[in-house]
Amino acid sequence: MSQATGFSVDAIRNDFPFFARSSGTEPPLAYLDNAATAQKPQCVLDAVLDLYRDATSNVHRGVHRLSAEATRRYENARDIVQRYIHAHDRCEIVFTRGTTESVNLVAQSYVRPLLGAGDEILITQMEHHSNFVPWQMVAEQTGAVVRVAPVTPQGELDLDAWRALLTERTKFVSVVHTSNAIGTINPVAEIVRLAHERGVAVLVDGAQAMPHQRVDVQALGADFFAFSGHKVFGPTGIGVLYGKQELLDDMPPYQGGGDMIKLVSLTNTVWNDLPYKFEAGTPNIAGAVGLGAALEWMKTIDLDGAALHERALHDDATARLRQWDDVRLIGTAAHKAAVVAFVMDGVHPHDIGTILDQARVAIRTGHHCAQPLLESFGVHATARASFALYNTHEEVAALAAGMAQVRELFGA
Ligand code: ALA
Repeated sequence: MSQATGFSVDAIRNDFPFFARSSGTEPPLAYLDNAATAQKPQCVLDAVLDLYRDATSNVHRGVHRLSAEATRRYENARDIVQRYIHAHDRCEIVFTRGTTESVNLVAQSYVRPLLGAGDEILITQMEHHSNFVPWQMVAEQTGAVVRVAPVTPQGELDLDAWRALLTERTKFVSVVHTSNAIGTINPVAEIVRLAHERGVAVLVDGAQAMPHQRVDVQALGADFFAFSGHKVFGPTGIGVLYGKQELLDDMPPYQGGGDMIKLVSLTNTVWNDLPYKFEAGTPNIAGAVGLGAALEWMKTIDLDGAALHERALHDDATARLRQWDDVRLIGTAAHKAAVVAFVMDGVHPHDIGTILDQARVAIRTGHHCAQPLLESFGVHATARASFALYNTHEEVAALAAGMAQVRELFGA
């Protein structure tokens, strides 16, 4: 089905071996758990396999040709990321294990030295645990306080409350771009602008934004931007921390080890230049190469067309679930990604997930690593269907058919 010129969901699905498999001997599986991780296109699988087959070697360490080739591919991936998110300089791209490690790196290397007792870090109640816990840890270490801006009953950030919490005590702001649990898209550029007016630096957790929209970090203005490879059709175990060069330059290393030093003597160690100062130990070479391939693939996609398609899937799923009075949608922000979270009277979300699995529909159930957010809705767990650009209306129909079975089984 084509929703916009230049975007064809059939053409997209052809790039993913997963769909060939599930339309072969096995009955098709509707994969609606994309906020947890995305399927991988063939070009990503090829890039990883080619690296291991043709250029298995360590990077930055050998004079031999295999090491030079591995280094070339690894550093080429950094260039791809730089261009994709429009960073000013390649040294601003640090490869990490994922968004979680990127946030922890900023918490420990940038924010911790800034903090004293009573200083504040401002986040929101919509954060993933990975953008909650590192701040609680650094607050514990320094005597600082984590302030949490509330969300509205629709699941939107209460911007007035957020503004009221931004005070002279605020030393750092961290905010999620797009909520993993309910899909809300936050006004991050506005948040960055308001924080900068007070001279406060901002980290944006972009993990769930990257698969759905183009991000330009210079236009956004954020001081730090974190994302994971596996949510953006790349491999697991690789992620990115973008940071403004002048900030990264002044930050101490996060971890010590090989590759992050220029010189080690018995008494003195000299840190390596950016970005290597933050890449201790042998990096995830194949992961970086796979991420590079994923972003090159993303560049070929009409993401505006994909966004329209995802919006149509979201609206379709929402309308189908709304037909039942005993199903309650959790998170109905006006501006949201194609994440549809819901609960059903008298049925635990895990039961919904299990029955849907029997119906060959894969969703995630539970707290989605966002317990404070779910608390604000008065629930401990939800069922969550999260869509990607390759999903179809047939798969939305499969979700609805599965939910009809759930209702039947539970006598609704
Ligand atoms: N953060 C991932 C999710 O939302 C794992 O499912």
